[in-house]
Amino acid sequence: MGNNWKRAYIAGVGMCVPEQVVTNDDFTKIVDTSDEWITQMTGIKERRRIADDKATSDLASPAAKTALERAGVEGKDVDAIIVATATPDTYFPSTGCLIQSAIGATEAFAYDVAAACAGFIFGLAQAQSYIVSGMAETVLVVGAECLTRVTNYTDRNTCVLFGDGAGAVVLKGCDSPRGIVDLFLRCDGTLSDYIIEQAGGSRMPASHETVDRNLHTIQMKGRKVYVNASKAMADAVVLLLERQGLTGDDLDLLFPHQANIRIIQSVAEKANMSMDKVFVNIHKYGNTSAASVPIALAEAYEQGLLKEGMLIGMVAFGSGFTWGSALIRW
Ligand code: ACO
Repeated sequence: MGNNWKRAYIAGVGMCVPEQVVTNDDFTKIVDTSDEWITQMTGIKERRRIADDKATSDLASPAAKTALERAGVEGKDVDAIIVATATPDTYFPSTGCLIQSAIGATEAFAYDVAAACAGFIFGLAQAQSYIVSGMAETVLVVGAECLTRVTNYTDRNTCVLFGDGAGAVVLKGCDSPRGIVDLFLRCDGTLSDYIIEQAGGSRMPASHETVDRNLHTIQMKGRKVYVNASKAMADAVVLLLERQGLTGDDLDLLFPHQANIRIIQSVAEKANMSMDKVFVNIHKYGNTSAASVPIALAEAYEQGLLKEGMLIGMVAFGSGFTWGSALIRW
């Protein structure tokens, strides 16, 4: 430790999604909806659902192992594990500690980050800070969710949107020009009730009533989130580009949070990017919250789309509201 690295770079990526596929047609059996509505309004065709006897860390640990393998790093070399999740296995211990045990990261510290769908970008920022400050050399950042565990399957406004999955990256130190070029993080707590899981915390502990009223599930004012997410995500991309004296043309690939294809298209338009430079997999997985950006990154890697020297962008938005963006030289 104690190296004077200027930047952190992504040395390995991995992902894991559960096997069970839930199609749009499956929802027509439980709520008043259609494949046509869901496809046109969200871009989602299917999403994944975790088995009843599994939990978030069961997706996160394999994703982390793949990322370590691809980075050529062993568990014992990891100094820190940061897990972005809104659906941990348990509130305590953290899912980070469960992953630490599963990957044999005997020298690491670990914890979870609560920044909803933007959590992975927040985790990247923390990893970069640890590495540049010399506090850690190798950091694992994981985004992992089991949103189907907190979805209200009687509410057609939300139940079609969410899926389960995990993505992971290993960050190591380097000197520029490679690595994280710039990051932007923000929140607005005045709008905290727009996406909320009301019960289960200290304000409304679990009771028969909270269960009966479905308050342990996601409630969302969809239209308000849509408007705020479209603007905040576009602004966050443009801000980083301008700060670096760049334009949308300079970006080789953008990884936006996969919440709604129409939000993604509007972000691309405002950032002056054509959609063929925007990675989209929402049709396969729906909204996997903190896992969505690292899953997209891992799929792009597996498809051979990530080439050394490319400038890539990431942007995400979620409950809080929280949002953030990153520019990375691959
Ligand atoms: N099937 C059929 N009709 C539906 C469905 C459905 N599954 N869901 C809603 N509708 C209906 C509504 O009831 C409404 O009907 P009404 O006009 O008769 O009242 C109509 O469709 C239009 O509904 P809106 O909510 O106004 O439609 P909108 O264009 O906003 O699309 C959507 C809804 C897809 C949810 C959109 O608002 C959205 O994607 N919001 C953003 C979600 C997001 O970005 N979340 C990110 C963070 S999530 C997190 O942090 C965990």
